[in-house]
Amino acid sequence: MSYIASRLSVVKPSASMAASQAAKALRARGVDVIDLGLGEPDFPTPLHIIDAAHFAAKAGQTLYTAAAGTAEVREAVAGKFRRENGLDYTADDIVVANGAKQIIFNALMATLETGDEAILPAPYFVSYPEMVKLLGGTPVVVECPETTEFRLTSALLEKAITPRTKWLFLNMPGNPSGAVYSQSDLEALGAVLAKHPQVLVLSDEIYEHILFDGREFVSFGKACPELKDRTLIVNGVSKSYAMTGWRVGYAAGPAPLVKAMSTIQSQSCTSVCSIAQAATVAALNGPQDEVARFRHAFEARRDLVVDGIRKINGLTLSPPEGAFYAYIGCAGLIGRKTPKGVTLEDDAAVANYLLNEGRVASVPGVAYGLSPYFRISTATGEEVLTEAISRINAAVAQVE
Ligand SMILES: Cc1ncc(COP(=O)(O)O)c(C=O)c1O
Repeated sequence: MSYIASRLSVVKPSASMAASQAAKALRARGVDVIDLGLGEPDFPTPLHIIDAAHFAAKAGQTLYTAAAGTAEVREAVAGKFRRENGLDYTADDIVVANGAKQIIFNALMATLETGDEAILPAPYFVSYPEMVKLLGGTPVVVECPETTEFRLTSALLEKAITPRTKWLFLNMPGNPSGAVYSQSDLEALGAVLAKHPQVLVLSDEIYEHILFDGREFVSFGKACPELKDRTLIVNGVSKSYAMTGWRVGYAAGPAPLVKAMSTIQSQSCTSVCSIAQAATVAALNGPQDEVARFRHAFEARRDLVVDGIRKINGLTLSPPEGAFYAYIGCAGLIGRKTPKGVTLEDDAAVANYLLNEGRVASVPGVAYGLSPYFRISTATGEEVLTEAISRINAAVAQVE
C-alpha cells in the first residue's frame, strides 16, 4: 500500500520540467539535444541586483523576516504598482512569497473549498490546474482557440461561470501563447464578472515587461478598478529581471486574502530568503535599462522564430505578442507518418518525434489544455534558435 496521500493521485509533475528531464537523459547518453522545454531567461541577473544582495548579506540582513516580506520590499512593490501600473496599494495589501508559484499556491490554499471551481482559459500555464486539484478544487478549462487569438472572450467567460466558480485565472502576456489583453478586452470581462460577485480574479502579470511591437501593458487592476476587492494581482522578479533562481514573487490584493496568505506562509516557510528580498528591492527601485535590453533581445528572437517556423510546411505560428515562447500549431502533421512508420496521432507524438529524431526538446500542447500545438521557449541565444529551427525543419520534412 502506498503511503502517499490520495490528494497526490490527481496531480501531474510539471510538463515543461519533464521535457527538460527527457532532454537531459538523452544528453547523458551522448545525444546532442537542444532543450527548448523550460522557460527562463538566459541572461545573468543584472549586477547591481547581485551587489545589493551581497551588501545585504554582509550587513547582517540574514535573519527571518516578517512572513509577508520586509517593510522595504513591500514598499518597493507598492511603489512599482503605483509607478508602472497606476495601481494604488499600500504595503499592507502586499505579500511576498518564494516565486509567483508560491503566491498562487497560497492564494488557492487560502480560499478553495472542496469542489470549488477555477476557470482556466486554455492554453494555460501548466501549474494552474495541478495546484487547483492539489488543493481540492476543480479546474474548469475553457479553450480559447486561435480564432479568439488565444484570449478569453466575455461570451466564453459567461458560459463557464457557475455558482461554484471561485476563481478566474488570467495570464497576460500568456504562457504559452504570448496573448495580451487590451483595456477593452479586460473591461468586457469585467462587465461579466460584475454580475457574479462570488468570483475572485487572479491576474498573473509576470511577463508584463516582455511585450512586443510597442504595446503598452494594461494591468487587470487598472482596467477593472471596481473589482479591486476581489482581484489578486500576481507578479514577480523571475522573468523581468532574469531572477528565476532567486525565488521571489509578490501579489497585491484585498487585505483579508493577503492576511490569510501571510498566515499560510508563516506556518510553512516562515518568510522568503532575506537576501533575495533585498535583491528584489534593488531590482524594483534601481535602474530599469536591463529590462528594456532583455525585451529587445526577446523581440528579435520572436521575429527570428516566427520567420523560421512559418517557412516550414505543416507548422503554423501567429506572432506572439509577448512572453518568450512560441506556441506552434502542428495540425498539418497529425495523422501523418514518421520515417519509422509511426503515425503522429497527437501533439504529444509530435513533440516526442521532434525530441528523438529532431533532437529538439519542446512541450506538447496537451500540457497546456489546447491541442494540437507544441511550445518552444525562445529564451535562448539566436544561434541556438536558428539551429533548432533547422532541426525542426529537417525532421518535419521527413514526415510522410
Ligand atoms: C505564467 C507563469 N506564472 C508564474 C510562473 C512562475 O514564476 P516564479 O518563478 O515567480 O515562481 C511562471 C513560470 O514559468 C509562468 O510562466
